Amino acid sequence: MSFGLVVFSLAQNAQAIDLQRGQRLYNQRCAGCHGLTGVPTIPQAPSFVTKERLMQPDMVLLQRVQMGKNSCPPFMGSLKNDEILDVLQYARQMR
Ligand code: HEC
Repeated sequence: MSFGLVVFSLAQNAQAIDLQRGQRLYNQRCAGCHGLTGVPTIPQAPSFVTKERLMQPDMVLLQRVQMGKNSCPPFMGSLKNDEILDVLQYARQMR
């Protein structure tokens, strides 16, 4: 019974992508290095305009943002999973 609830809340979550929240959090937490428009401001950071590293499953990217990678800081504890997914979805639609 609780399993059904978990599945239900995950499904709810998947539908509730909030691009406005993604944009706000991206501008606050990611744009310093990844750039407001996805063009990186530091040479080591990947470009989100060219989708350089975004062609990976949500769960892989989610974990990477949680744990951090080299100069990309870990966001576990400061951003919730659904907030990170919003940010990733916002980054994915950058042109
Ligand atoms: C202090 C600078 C900095 C900030 C802030 C930052 N990043 Fe990064 N990010 C980097 C750098 C540098 C890399 C490249 C890491 C590497 O591959 O060595 C990176 C890589 C990534 C990658 C690609 C990971 C992979 O699979 O290689 C993603 C996705 C990413 N960042 C998302 C984010 C998100 C989302 C935020 C905000 C919540 C964020 N970053 C904030 C510097 C930053």
